[in-house]
Amino acid sequence: MLTRDSRGAALLGGLPLHDILHDPAVAPSPGEPPTPAYVYDLDAMAHEVRALRAGFGSAPHLVAYAVKANTAGPIIRTLARQGCGAEVVSGGELAVALRCGIAADAILYSGVAKKKIEIDAAIGAGDRGILAIQIENVEEIARVSARAQALGRRARVSLRINPDIEADTHAKVATGHDEAKFGIAREDLPAAWDALDRAAHLDLVGLSCHIGSQLMRTNEYIDAAGVLLQCAAERERASGRLQFVSFGGGFGIDYGGGCDTKPQAFAQAVVKKLATAGLEGPTIVTEPGRALVGAHGLLCARVIAAKHSRSGRRWLLIDAGMNDLVRPAMYGAKHRIEPLDAPPHATDTSLWRVAGPVCESSDDFGEHPFVEPPDFVLIRDAGAYGFTMASEYNGRPLPVEVFIEQGRVAHVIRPRSVDSWVSERAGC
Ligand SMILES: Cc1ncc(COP(=O)(O)O)c(C=O)c1O
Repeated sequence: MLTRDSRGAALLGGLPLHDILHDPAVAPSPGEPPTPAYVYDLDAMAHEVRALRAGFGSAPHLVAYAVKANTAGPIIRTLARQGCGAEVVSGGELAVALRCGIAADAILYSGVAKKKIEIDAAIGAGDRGILAIQIENVEEIARVSARAQALGRRARVSLRINPDIEADTHAKVATGHDEAKFGIAREDLPAAWDALDRAAHLDLVGLSCHIGSQLMRTNEYIDAAGVLLQCAAERERASGRLQFVSFGGGFGIDYGGGCDTKPQAFAQAVVKKLATAGLEGPTIVTEPGRALVGAHGLLCARVIAAKHSRSGRRWLLIDAGMNDLVRPAMYGAKHRIEPLDAPPHATDTSLWRVAGPVCESSDDFGEHPFVEPPDFVLIRDAGAYGFTMASEYNGRPLPVEVFIEQGRVAHVIRPRSVDSWVSERAGC
């Protein structure tokens, strides 16, 4: 958790960020913090899982961590130790989840355009493949069945249903409405049931949905759960018990504007919904990404220059850009930006527009209050969809990642050097 000491300097997981960045395991040369740097608090992430799991009480459940939020091994291992499975969307994510010790039996694989090689990896994992390949369209049923036949195995699948529910969130992260490419529309379900009945090498073990991300209330999540439970009851009447129902992820976090609905509230609400639907048998699966890791990662950056325009605008130019954290450029997201070694300034102090080094006007983190330009800043709530969406655009290396556990620097993941990028691009 981010806290401040009596002088206002930032601490993560109880350690001063200044010390973290100067730790010999982190800084390649003394006194040269390797910014931009993501710093994560593993203990706080573990705590998020425990709090969410408490919301399920005694109901059978699986928290399948959406690995796309952050694929770092130390994070996946930490969440796995708390009993998490994984939700993955590519062969790469599947392999990293397995390598980090998540059992094949606890992995769901979603995605609208899975390649043959990826389907094969999912069917071939462990003793009997992963928990379920989440089928996103009717045509995929025959394709997965054919791959299972070719591999001489049965494949466990779930149908991802598009419940046609508009989530109250940013349009770019809403996925459960009928214009979205995700999931099988309800009117296509009869065709899906037929295709499943003809698919000799598949076992339908679950149904799922995911209506979107950064949900700040349970209403639409529960409406979607209601649709899913109706479909589950219909299928169970026709062909027996389902092993699980997954209501997806999407639990919101507080980026500074507030978020009163905690992940636990979603868990409690679906347990209640299942009980009232008279369906207490199946395991309840949730697929949170952001809510487990988002608030517990910071992006630290060095201030390169302070610029004043004639118009009166003040710019704070930092060494982290949209290639390191794309959410502001992509979704118009606002992350709080604060000095690293001094308390955050009151919002009525002068505003500085914080921008990065990338040659794009959208490389802009918005206006933030600073009395004086600090030497270093931290960008808050960058643990989810930060590093995993980073790129090497403009020939910039990926940021270093530092993992804090039990009050010490426990792991560091270093990006490849600029030199190796140059060799790859130059081809010599
Ligand atoms: C199928 C599915 N499950 C889970 C998630 C995780 O969402 P969040 O990080 O908002 O919890 C996503 C996000 O895109 C998703 O597509």
